[in-house]
Amino acid sequence: MKAITQYAYGTVDMLAYEDVPSPKPGPDEVMIRVHAAGVDPGVWHIMTGRPLIARAALGLRRPRETIRGWDVSGVVEAVGADVIRFKRGDAVFGTTGGSFAEYACAAESKFQPKPENLDFVAAAALPTSGMTALTGLREVGRVESGWNVLIIGASGGVGHLAVQLACHLGARVTGVCGGDSAEFVTSLGATRVIDYRRETLTGTYDFILDMAGNRPIPELRALLTPTGTLVIGGGEGDGRWFGGTGRTARAQLISPFVRHRLAGLLSLPKPETLREVAELAASGAWAPRIDRTFALSDAPAAIDYLVSGHPRGKIALVVA
Ligand SMILES: NC(=O)c1ccc[n+]([C@@H]2O[C@H](COP(=O)([O-])OP(=O)(O)OC[C@H]3O[C@@H](n4cnc5c(N)ncnc54)[C@H](OP(=O)(O)O)[C@@H]3O)[C@@H](O)[C@H]2O)c1
Repeated sequence: MKAITQYAYGTVDMLAYEDVPSPKPGPDEVMIRVHAAGVDPGVWHIMTGRPLIARAALGLRRPRETIRGWDVSGVVEAVGADVIRFKRGDAVFGTTGGSFAEYACAAESKFQPKPENLDFVAAAALPTSGMTALTGLREVGRVESGWNVLIIGASGGVGHLAVQLACHLGARVTGVCGGDSAEFVTSLGATRVIDYRRETLTGTYDFILDMAGNRPIPELRALLTPTGTLVIGGGEGDGRWFGGTGRTARAQLISPFVRHRLAGLLSLPKPETLREVAELAASGAWAPRIDRTFALSDAPAAIDYLVSGHPRGKIALVVA
């Protein structure tokens, strides 16, 4: 099969489009024919091995998983002997190491049936960003109807879903993004947009989801109500070793000593979270907006575009 492979950390120049053996499903695994694969910053982190601390999990000298990609949608091609929830021909979406390929395998728990109202591209764009937005707003943030909510990074993969979900939960949403994307963020339901390139952040919020920008914690706390909540989920720090994770650690250390609730966000793929993501999509509460699609062989261009093209919503590879 064709796949996007990588044998050393680095830039997109390290990626190759080449023939590799197709994976074979283990007893509890599902093998899918990939229709589309989502592209998100996690792919960039694995490709570059940055921040360096991440290499403890990814592989010290080179990426342990040689095929790139994570989010996926497709059709079940084969199932292992112990698989009970899926059969050949089912349309599914979820996460798997190595989704930038014509075929991919993962445990059946990593997949959910594809919501019928989403096409394969939209479904592939949803897993990681959807689970992150849902975990940040509902599980960690406990956002309630009537709250004033600030989403920093509102036009991005996670942010544009978080805006839709916060509106669905009954919050009044202000989105922070580049001014070019203001109309896009308003179309998602935000009542106000702040252009981070020209304006400073103003307002008072019950809840802030910070997905971008590395603003100092005191600057963000100044925007909270006395008992407001700040959840730090993203932001690309400069540090080679720890990237943006230092701010998250500081927030968690400070939190017990202040009235604000300050929390980090680490969204790990859980079956029940992916199921809720699918249910929200099926109910029409949210849908990924696709900025651009690329062919599998153009994965390097897709990653470059993600990092420097200021996409609105998500980008994805069309494989089948
Ligand atoms: N904690 C977790 O479990 C988890 C899970 C997934 C992702 N993440 C992280 O979350 C971050 C966002 O992910 P994503 O997929 O949404 O990325 P993305 O699609 O690249 O979106 C980034 C967003 O941030 C905005 N932005 C950039 N610089 C900004 C600044 N200084 N101030 C305010 N907004 C700014 C961008 O707007 P413009 O395009 O207009 O510049 C865009 O809306 C990344 O750092 C990613 O690694 C964390």
